[in-house]
Amino acid sequence: MRHLACPKLGALFLSLFLVAFATLAQAASPNGVLLVAFGTSMEEAKPALDQVGKAFEKAYPNTPVVWAYTSDIIRKKLAEEGKPVFSVREALDHCAREGIVNLRVQSLHVSVGEEFSQLQRLLVRYLASNPGRFNEVWLGHPLLESTQDLDDVVDAVIANLPKDRKAEDAVVLMGHGNDRGPGDITLAHVACAFQDKDRNVYLATVEGANGFDAVLEKIKASGAKKVYLQPFMVVAGDHANNDLAGDEDDSWASLLKAQGLQVEANLIGLGQIPGVQAVFVRHAKESTDELANPKKIF
Ligand code: CO
Repeated sequence: MRHLACPKLGALFLSLFLVAFATLAQAASPNGVLLVAFGTSMEEAKPALDQVGKAFEKAYPNTPVVWAYTSDIIRKKLAEEGKPVFSVREALDHCAREGIVNLRVQSLHVSVGEEFSQLQRLLVRYLASNPGRFNEVWLGHPLLESTQDLDDVVDAVIANLPKDRKAEDAVVLMGHGNDRGPGDITLAHVACAFQDKDRNVYLATVEGANGFDAVLEKIKASGAKKVYLQPFMVVAGDHANNDLAGDEDDSWASLLKAQGLQVEANLIGLGQIPGVQAVFVRHAKESTDELANPKKIF
């Protein structure tokens, strides 16, 4: 009798175990990806971030992808509109609550500037004050930190310029720039890299040291008749729509038009360029900065 009942009971326990296991596996993934962007409050700019998110979902199947914005101003605005987005601290709390213990944090900033430095400091402080909350936290660096990144990004941007742009047409890319930190040095180098690949592609920044005046002089001297404008920022947000392509007298579009040049704005963010998405994914995959275990750092 006992021998006959055993297989049935065994099967029952096995199926119960499988159901419980499947439920657990569905409820919590030990691995997660946290994407950290400056953020945008403009609905039209959002596709750039969404497309980066999709690239990460493809690169990390069955892994939750969580978002955080580093800009307090943008998060406040979105919260007021009923569209809250996590801060980095809130996102880390959320990941921990969801049972994520191995986390890949990827910065979606363009260069190692103020925003990234803040992210780095915040992560280290968070992990120090919450020991054991995560097993591993890897930090992937911003878009541009190696010569390979520079080559990949410059090639990807040039390959994605509007199809009807002729070789003699100028292209002006608007980077952000920083008043402090090494971001401006990176962007100055990026400007040179574009010039090396295509003499008619210029980069200047809306803030920081690489201003537009010098580029405007070069374009006047070049004899170009038409200028394409494009942001060199992850999203085509406020700066792209106003400082670059807006109607105000001091927008770059207005300054170029005042010189009699024909201007066409191509308002796509870097995040919409597949080759750029690939660099962010590569940085997440190749990150060697594991911040959860101080032993490994010091
Ligand atoms: Co700004």
